[in-house]
Amino acid sequence: MFERPHHGGNLGWAAQMAGCPAFSLLDFSASINPLGPPAAILAAIESALPALHHYPDPEYLRLRQAIAAYHHLPVDWVLPGNGSAELLTLAGRTFANLDCTYVVGPAFGDYGRSWRGVGAELQTIPWEVDQPWPWQKLRSPSEITDNIATQPQKRGLILNNPHNPSGALLARKEVLPLLPHYQWVLLDEAFMDFLPPEKEQSLVPHLGEHPNLIILRSLTKFYRLPGLRLGYALGHPDILSQWQAWRDPWPVNVLAEAAAIACLEAEEFRQQVWQWLPPIRAALQKDLASLPGLLPVTSQANFLLVKTAIPAPELQLELLIKFQILIRDCLSFPELGQDFFRVAVRTMADNQKLTQALASIMATAKS
Ligand SMILES: Cc1ncc(COP(=O)(O)O)c(C=O)c1O
Repeated sequence: MFERPHHGGNLGWAAQMAGCPAFSLLDFSASINPLGPPAAILAAIESALPALHHYPDPEYLRLRQAIAAYHHLPVDWVLPGNGSAELLTLAGRTFANLDCTYVVGPAFGDYGRSWRGVGAELQTIPWEVDQPWPWQKLRSPSEITDNIATQPQKRGLILNNPHNPSGALLARKEVLPLLPHYQWVLLDEAFMDFLPPEKEQSLVPHLGEHPNLIILRSLTKFYRLPGLRLGYALGHPDILSQWQAWRDPWPVNVLAEAAAIACLEAEEFRQQVWQWLPPIRAALQKDLASLPGLLPVTSQANFLLVKTAIPAPELQLELLIKFQILIRDCLSFPELGQDFFRVAVRTMADNQKLTQALASIMATAKS
């Protein structure tokens, strides 16, 4: 028996509810780019098959060189990982030495998992997704916990840009002044690749000035390789070499390593995604907004958070049973509860199936 999942893309539970095989589900719950993976990446994986007979290079030198060249950083500022989720676990261990880490909630649930796993203190700064981002609170962290007797002296901050689950893009000029207020800042840029160079707000070019900043990037969403597990951390060599010493020697397998190098070379694919996403996301937002009781939040990422008048778990179940469509309920985000769901932006045909299914459910709910 499968339990209700805490992440998107967990198809076992959904297939059980829908009474169909997992592969028949139309999955809007995981925010994965439907255009990927490009053929060159699959070819690179195939060419790497003979390397399965050997252990990966524990230094991952070729891969680190490729990532470093892509981001214009020295090689020792790069640490590849088994998805960015693995690196989050290591970050938790570093942040456990602080008195407290702040995160704006709703937030990606794995921050809690990683921090709790090592007994690190994580405090949520609540944010209403239709209100401005709480910059002021983040700028004066000593005032955030005025209800606590002892003020934390050593503070950390987790930021996620673009933000999951809202899709909000935080401006670089707002984030940069926050950095000196914290001992450590973990900046999760798992979805930043979805923004073209003229729009992205990555802090990678500012790493050199901020040794307390660690950036996480993921290759699983943009290149559609969540099953392969691929991500990397960028940060000061002192902290990354500590993480490397803590973990198992071969977290990235040889196929993932070859795929990652091919991802970074896939410039044509990136251009294609940057052209494709904005109009198709706008069309999905418009179609969802036209349905009674639904209010999508404007997003700069490849997903939309939607406020719903019908409780999201009910909608989710009806979509599963009647249409084999899976959306992400937001029950695991305590700030959102059953008033919201999240959907990935998929192909135009898939998006239309979703909006038609929702329209049909709304029509029966009214009658
Ligand atoms: C905001 C955010 N960060 C990190 C991750 C982890 O991604 P991965 O481990 O696949 O790189 C996810 C996955 O959903 C995410 O939503």
